[in-house]
Amino acid sequence: MHHSPVSIRQLIKNVDTSLVPRVTLSSGAKMPAIGLGTFGSDHVSHCAVAEAVEYAASIGYRHFDCASVYGNEFEIGKVFEGIFQRNLRREEVWITSKLWNDKHDEDDVFASCEKSLADLQIDYLDLYLIHWPFPNHHPPGCDVNARNPHAVPYIHENYMRTWRKMEDLVDRGLVRHIGTSNITIPKMDLLLRDARIKPVANEMELHPHFQQPEFFNYLMERGVHPIGFSPIGSPGRPPRDRTPEDTSPVEDSGIIEIARRLNVHPAVVCIQWAVQRGQVPIPFSADPRNILSNLLGVIGEPLTQNDMDTVKKLDRNCRLIKGQVFLWKDNQPWEDLWDANGVITTP
Ligand SMILES: NC(=O)c1ccc[n+]([C@@H]2O[C@H](COP(=O)([O-])OP(=O)(O)OC[C@H]3O[C@@H](n4cnc5c(N)ncnc54)[C@H](OP(=O)(O)O)[C@@H]3O)[C@@H](O)[C@H]2O)c1
Repeated sequence: MHHSPVSIRQLIKNVDTSLVPRVTLSSGAKMPAIGLGTFGSDHVSHCAVAEAVEYAASIGYRHFDCASVYGNEFEIGKVFEGIFQRNLRREEVWITSKLWNDKHDEDDVFASCEKSLADLQIDYLDLYLIHWPFPNHHPPGCDVNARNPHAVPYIHENYMRTWRKMEDLVDRGLVRHIGTSNITIPKMDLLLRDARIKPVANEMELHPHFQQPEFFNYLMERGVHPIGFSPIGSPGRPPRDRTPEDTSPVEDSGIIEIARRLNVHPAVVCIQWAVQRGQVPIPFSADPRNILSNLLGVIGEPLTQNDMDTVKKLDRNCRLIKGQVFLWKDNQPWEDLWDANGVITTP
């Protein structure tokens, strides 16, 4: 059954936002411990994502994970404009956006950030991420076997040129924090060595079947907060982004058993586990009922230590978002993007 936002609002006016946990970043800033993802992919229109943002803000979400490449910042900006005129002060909301792969050139970083700010109708971002560590662009919706003829491997000098411009954005007050996404331990080692302004967060795939314990601990020890994307295992991703080896945390009998006991959807258990472990999950949903249950999950009764131990054992090291389209050679294994043996993959 489909619930409209109105009928849900009759059930619950809003969530007491002071109950939503927040994590403290290395800068001292506080980031709400759950955010709403905004990648509608092929199946959710820009307007439907903007409606989801509006509904989420109305019930108490105070963190939104945006990106220029999602194509919907303009529609989301119309919602933010209304919210900040009528309901909330800008500083009550955490807004992230990301620099897309075709804008790594030094001359493009400012313009790209300013475009996101203009589209989102805000005058600063709380967090700006370099979306991928490769400048390898591909058209939205292209086949996983498509390769950009200009694609290149990771080149640290070039990444640092982009990073210097990200640092300038902080200096100029356009963004409060900067961070990374889809990078690896050896790449982070170099960035932490060379950065003038350190990343406060790294956005990465994290869910019960892909817990990345080594990287997670590495980041926590260095004050770079992990933000977990696809926290439910991205069940809505299109067929081209699936491989036969993929597994689904929401279909895991261990998760289902906990969910039955708590009388929630397995997705909610994934979110609760993420928040209690310490990463910041950013689940996407366009369904008001699910948007609400995910938020209620993080303020309700916590998982027991026993549940946490159970979920820890469910890890399968199963990466779902493999990034094949960012590879730089034909017939190259996707693992090359992820430096699996701890060394940056060379050309
Ligand atoms: N930095 C990066 O490179 C990167 C990569 C991927 C994603 N992300 C970010 O992370 C966000 C989340 O990742 P994702 O969209 O891939 O996957 P996800 O959040 O793991 O899964 C989203 C799917 O789960 C369903 N869902 C959500 N809550 C549910 C609930 N309570 N019960 C049942 N189903 C539920 C949604 O369906 P309904 O709409 O029907 O609820 C939607 O299809 C993205 O939107 C984006 O902001 C970033």
